[in-house]
Amino acid sequence: MKPNAVLGLATGSTPQLLYRELVRMKLKWSRVKTFNIDEYVGLSEGHPQSFHSFMWENLFRHIKIPARNIRIPDGNAKNVEKFCGTYEKQIRAAGGIDLQVLGIGANGHIGFNEPMSSLASRTRIKTLAQQTIRDNARFFGSRSKVPRHVITMGIGTIMEARQIVLLAFGVKKSQAVAGAIEGPIAARHPASALQLHPHVTICLDDAAAAKLEFASYYRDTFQHKPVWQQ
Ligand code: PGA
Repeated sequence: MKPNAVLGLATGSTPQLLYRELVRMKLKWSRVKTFNIDEYVGLSEGHPQSFHSFMWENLFRHIKIPARNIRIPDGNAKNVEKFCGTYEKQIRAAGGIDLQVLGIGANGHIGFNEPMSSLASRTRIKTLAQQTIRDNARFFGSRSKVPRHVITMGIGTIMEARQIVLLAFGVKKSQAVAGAIEGPIAARHPASALQLHPHVTICLDDAAAAKLEFASYYRDTFQHKPVWQQ
């Protein structure tokens, strides 16, 4: 609907189907700009588990998007602080992110903003939580091969996107999802910051929704839409 949209993109198992669907839709990408949310520090871009590789394999090699329109944090930046400041400026120069796609970690992280990240944080280097290292070991074959550091947009950066779509599937995400939607807003559960965002859509399967206390109320709101939305 917006040919020059600025998209914030995420990686991991969660958005893979979304990207497959976007490819299938045969959209026009020539004026779209993308900013990925995070990248491991120290992996070469060509490493099979780098988020550069992920995005290339799952989306970019299947669509016609000019390479100059693609931004992914540089996990090998010599001056990380400078790089992160530039990344923030590039997002602003592009007019800000129209639509940010998010997954959620089992520990409630969004991007790689681990629990106790400042809710006002900007793009910066982070140390991964042990739980995230355990969760992502499946991609690397063993825990010891998972990088310890990442560059990630901050929660403050994410919150500036005009619209956010968070996807979560499977029972492993149910606790994190409940905390994000119904828990108190707290740095110990980074995704809870989204409660303060004016335009978030959360897409769940039944398993990921299983721990929502107010699920029947949410279903009601879909079934009984006000007349002006019917
Ligand atoms: P996953 O990761 O999609 O691989 O479950 C989500 C996340 O850690 O944000």
